[in-house]
Amino acid sequence: MSNTAHQYKLPDGVSILDGRGGLSVVSVKTPWSSAEVYLHGAHVTHFQKNGEPPLIFVSQCSRFAEGQPIRGGVPIIFPWFGACEGRKGQHGFARNADWKLNAATKDEQGRVKLEFQLPDCSEAEAFPKFTLKFFVTVGEILEMELQTTNLSASDNLEFEDCLHTYFTVGDIAAVSVHGLKGASYLDKTDNFAKKVENDDAIHFNSETDRPYLNTTATVEIRDANLGRRILVEKENSASTIVWNPWIAKAQQLSDFGDEEYKQMVCVESGNVAVNKLVLPPGKCSSLRVRLKSKKSA
Ligand code: BG6
Repeated sequence: MSNTAHQYKLPDGVSILDGRGGLSVVSVKTPWSSAEVYLHGAHVTHFQKNGEPPLIFVSQCSRFAEGQPIRGGVPIIFPWFGACEGRKGQHGFARNADWKLNAATKDEQGRVKLEFQLPDCSEAEAFPKFTLKFFVTVGEILEMELQTTNLSASDNLEFEDCLHTYFTVGDIAAVSVHGLKGASYLDKTDNFAKKVENDDAIHFNSETDRPYLNTTATVEIRDANLGRRILVEKENSASTIVWNPWIAKAQQLSDFGDEEYKQMVCVESGNVAVNKLVLPPGKCSSLRVRLKSKKSA
C-alpha cells in the first residue's frame, strides 16, 4: 500500500484496495454506479453505471507499475501535452506520479466525492510553485475537476492540461463523434497540418489524431453497436482531442492489444497548443468534465 494510510474513516461504499501491480486503488460503489481510481496518476480506470457496459476503456495489456503510465482510463495530462522540447517524457509527469488521497466524502444523495493532490516532486521544481488537485465525483454521472493553483507571488504559471479519457465502444466502425463541426484542428497524422472540420460527424477508418482548438462545445459519442450515446460536457476547456491509433499504431504500442483499437475511442478535454493556459500569481483555474451516458433512441 502506498501513501494513503487509513487516517480517517472512509464513507460506506468507498475502500482502498491493493489493485493491479500492487498499486493502491480507491474503489467506489454508489446506488447508480461503480468506479475505481488508482493513486498512481490519480487515474480513473473504471466507471460503470448499473445495467450498462463500462464507460471507460482500459487495455488488457496496460502496465500497472510505478513510473509507467496506465494505458486507458483517464490519464491526467499536465503540465504539457504531447512531446515538449527540452523536457523528458510525453504528456507531462502528473500521470506517472503517486498522488495522495486528501478526502473522500458522501453527499445526502449518495454521491461520492474524492479529492486527490499531486505531492511535491522533483519534476515540478522547473515550474513556479503550484498545487494540483483532482476531484472525482461518482454518481449517476462521472464528474472530474482538475484544479491548478499558482502559488508563486511573482511568476505566471504556463501549462497545458487534459483529461485524456478513453471510452469503451462496441465497434469503432459503428461509432461517430459529433459536436466539432467548424472547429479547426491539427492533423497529427499529416505532419500537424491545420485543417477545419467540415463534417457533422467524425467516423473512423484510419489512424485519427486531432487536437481540435478553440472549441468549448459538448461532444457526443454515438455508439450504434452498444446502443449508447455518451455526452462529454466540459468547462474551462478550449481544446478537444480525438484519438484512435488504428491498426499499425496499435501494433507498435507495447501496452495495447493489436485489436483493441476497435473497442475504444479517446475524446480528451483540455487546453493544449495555442490554448495553453497562463495563470497569474495567486490564481486558480479548474478544468471540469462531466460524462453522461444514455441508451440510444
Ligand atoms: C493523444 C495524442 O492525446 O495521446 C497522440 O494526440 C498519442 O499523439 C496518444 O499517441 C497516446 O499517447 P501516449 O503517450 O499515452 O502513448
